[in-house]
Amino acid sequence: MSLKVQQTEDGSSTLFSEEFDEIYHSRHGAWQESKHVFIEAGLKHLLAQKTEIHLLEIGFGTGLNALLTLAEVKDSPAQIHYYGIEPLPVDISLIEAMSFPQLEKTPDLKADLRAIHEAEWDKKVSILPNFHLHKIKQKIAEWTTDSLFDLVYFDAFAPSKHPEMWEEEALKYITSLMNKGGVLVTYCAKGYVKRNLKSAGLGVEALPGPPKKREMTRGTKLVGL
Ligand SMILES: C[S@@+](CC[C@H](N)C(=O)[O-])C[C@H]1O[C@@H](n2cnc3c(N)ncnc32)[C@H](O)[C@@H]1O
Repeated sequence: MSLKVQQTEDGSSTLFSEEFDEIYHSRHGAWQESKHVFIEAGLKHLLAQKTEIHLLEIGFGTGLNALLTLAEVKDSPAQIHYYGIEPLPVDISLIEAMSFPQLEKTPDLKADLRAIHEAEWDKKVSILPNFHLHKIKQKIAEWTTDSLFDLVYFDAFAPSKHPEMWEEEALKYITSLMNKGGVLVTYCAKGYVKRNLKSAGLGVEALPGPPKKREMTRGTKLVGL
């Protein structure tokens, strides 16, 4: 797998995958996209309702969403059980080559990012007393579990580059892993993706997107299904 570090417009780095011919985050700002889509529209939305959250990230990648989730709950009463699915783990040397100016004033978070990447795969590891990480080296379609999730960060490559991830069958499988009332957030706002999410049993909202993107999507698993 060939990956290259790339700068984005908010100063934070992301990766470019030659295999998928696709960038891991918005070129307009990796950090701000992750904060807007996953933290603000997903995590904070759910934290307003409950403090213990079983969270599933599909496409763990650079661990940026995990780090921003940890940063959000650090020193709070929230308990996060974070499952990150990733068939193609990123080598730590590449993570070290990335830069996040947003972390310069928070050396403890830099150390947390390292701990997130050093955590063993396929094992539950407590990075903080209230942030428990389980990185799973597998494709989502091949992973089975007895757990049900309150929050899903759906962060696959774009539908044009990795279409099978966004098909109705794939989204139905993900929805089957969610609790009733559970929430899924994604940066994608394509019409057919929203329709597939609806067919999968989610109530779908179009929300304002991160800077330079009109919309993002949030789905909530309808109670009674
Ligand atoms: C848009 S990037 C994810 C960005 C990541 N959340 C981050 O913050 O760096 C998409 C990710 O999906 C992963 N991926 C590829 N095939 C997958 C599959 N079948 N199941 C789950 N993840 C997959 C890729 O390796 C890549 O890391």
